[in-house]
Amino acid sequence: MNQQILKDTIVQLFANGKGLLAMDESNGTCNKRFAEAGIPQTIEMRRQYRELIVTTPGLNESIGGAILYDETIRQQTKDGILMADVLEKAGIIPGIKVDMGAKPMACFPYEKITEGLDGLRERLAEYKQMGVRFAKWRAVIKICTHIPTSSCIQANTHALSRYAALCQEAGIVPIVEPEVLMAGNHTLQQCYDVTEEVLKALFYQLYQFRINLEGIILKPNMVIAGTENATLNNIDEVARATVNCLLASVPATVPAIAFLSGGQSPKDAAAHLNAINKNYKSHLPWIVSFSFARAIQQPALDLWKGQETNVEEAQKILYRRAKLVAAARLGDYDTGMEKSVHFI
Ligand code: G3H
Repeated sequence: MNQQILKDTIVQLFANGKGLLAMDESNGTCNKRFAEAGIPQTIEMRRQYRELIVTTPGLNESIGGAILYDETIRQQTKDGILMADVLEKAGIIPGIKVDMGAKPMACFPYEKITEGLDGLRERLAEYKQMGVRFAKWRAVIKICTHIPTSSCIQANTHALSRYAALCQEAGIVPIVEPEVLMAGNHTLQQCYDVTEEVLKALFYQLYQFRINLEGIILKPNMVIAGTENATLNNIDEVARATVNCLLASVPATVPAIAFLSGGQSPKDAAAHLNAINKNYKSHLPWIVSFSFARAIQQPALDLWKGQETNVEEAQKILYRRAKLVAAARLGDYDTGMEKSVHFI
């Protein structure tokens, strides 16, 4: 395995203050988002939506890599160009979601285990041929009474490590995503405790599986109170708790952390990422960036509504959202930019 390929890919993905765009919603998740926006849930509408994203002018100013779903990487624009080729031509590295989804964990009601290891070596080889240079695997951990169990944490971090090993063997950078879900009424402190436990278990497993930590990207949740918790999250408190939790659990040899947005509003996700980078820049041994889906895409999807006539406006909003998040990645964002006509 050529370790340098992995390092070079990571440097390129985050060069010049850029981050990642997650546009890898499974068909089920994408259809759910379409249904909420009143868009027909068909393969052609999903193709049109992904074309809107990859052809957005200037997206490469803030996005260094885009994570695709298997359906999308096999699709073409209306001009007959593969989506991955459009991205590459724009200088955006194509990546791929390779897990097969979080499934109910047998004997553990309310918990899930992410599947997809069978045949993964062969799938990675095929994706590599298609130009893919990084991959993603997402595990989900729910906080509720008596959960997460250590069995769920162990099983998911074990699978994440086996996935990471296969990716590195193939010369593909693994994004390792152990998502502690925001859904629930847990406090910020509970989120902190569970996130710390999960990350410590993860890095123990990664070590056991001989993963080169310099060749991974960690994609964690921010430390934040649950969506049903009445306490309002304070921006500086979220930033402090998140940084402390990561410093306590993530080795400094990991080159980059790219947060998921997890259902936060686009503005909240940008404000939190900004506070993390602005307030703690000198304490962070890693690049601290983003790999958002909803917090970049949602306003554009809502505006598009599946109408060809809305494509240009939706692309402008997508471009702007990505620029705002990229500013937050450098600690240069402020809420005034949200309305400012001078920002872009
Ligand atoms: O796996 C989750 C996605 O890649 C990130 O999505 O930013 O909407 O949480 P999100």
